[in-house]
Amino acid sequence: MKNIAIFASGSGSNFEAIAQACTNGTIPAQIVLLVCDQPGAYVIERAKKYHIRCLIASPKEYPSKTDFEQEIVRELNQLNVNLICLAGYMRIVSNTLLTAYSGRIINIHPSLLPAFKGAHAVEDAVAYGVKVYGITIHYVDETLDGGKIIAQEAFAYDGNDPAEVHKIGQKIEHQLYVQTIRELLIRN
Ligand code: GAR
Repeated sequence: MKNIAIFASGSGSNFEAIAQACTNGTIPAQIVLLVCDQPGAYVIERAKKYHIRCLIASPKEYPSKTDFEQEIVRELNQLNVNLICLAGYMRIVSNTLLTAYSGRIINIHPSLLPAFKGAHAVEDAVAYGVKVYGITIHYVDETLDGGKIIAQEAFAYDGNDPAEVHKIGQKIEHQLYVQTIRELLIRN
C-alpha cells in the first residue's frame, strides 16, 4: 500500500475527492497525513471525518521556513510517504521539501498553465476575457505554480462569472486529480 500526504490551506474539496477514491479503491493508496497551514480551514474537519492525521502548522511559528519544512519532512519520513499532493496549498514549497521529496510533489491549479499563475487564476482569466479555461496538474518546483506538466483538461466558457468557472473547474479537478494520482502510483 502506498502512502499519500496532502497539503491544503482551504476548503479541501480535492482532499475529499482523493480521500473517497482511496476509500473505494480507485486510488491504490491511503492518505496518511494532512498538512494544513490554516488552523481554521474546513479541510481539517474533512480529515477528522476520515480519521486522517493532521499536522497543522504555519511557518510563522518557526524561526525560519527551513525549520518549518524540516518539521514537515520529519513527519513525512516517519510515515513513509510516497507522494505529496498539494490541493489548494497556498504556499511556495522551498528547497528543504523539494530536495527531500524530489519528483514526488505534485500540484493542481485552476488554469491552463503556464497561463494565469497565482492565487486568483480564475478571476484573472475571466478579466482577460478567456474563452477556453482549464485545469493543470504538474510537478512542483521552487517557483509559483511552476514545474513540468503531467495532465491538463480544458473547457469552453463564454461568460463573465468567476463563480461559474470555479464550479465547472472543480468538478473537472476532482476527477482529473484522482485519475492522475492513480496513474502515477500504478506506474511507479
Ligand atoms: C483548487 O481549485 C485548486 O486548483 C486551487 O485551490 C483550490 C482548492 O480547492 N489551487 C491553486 O490555486 C494553486 N495555485 P479545494 O480546497 O476545494 O480543494
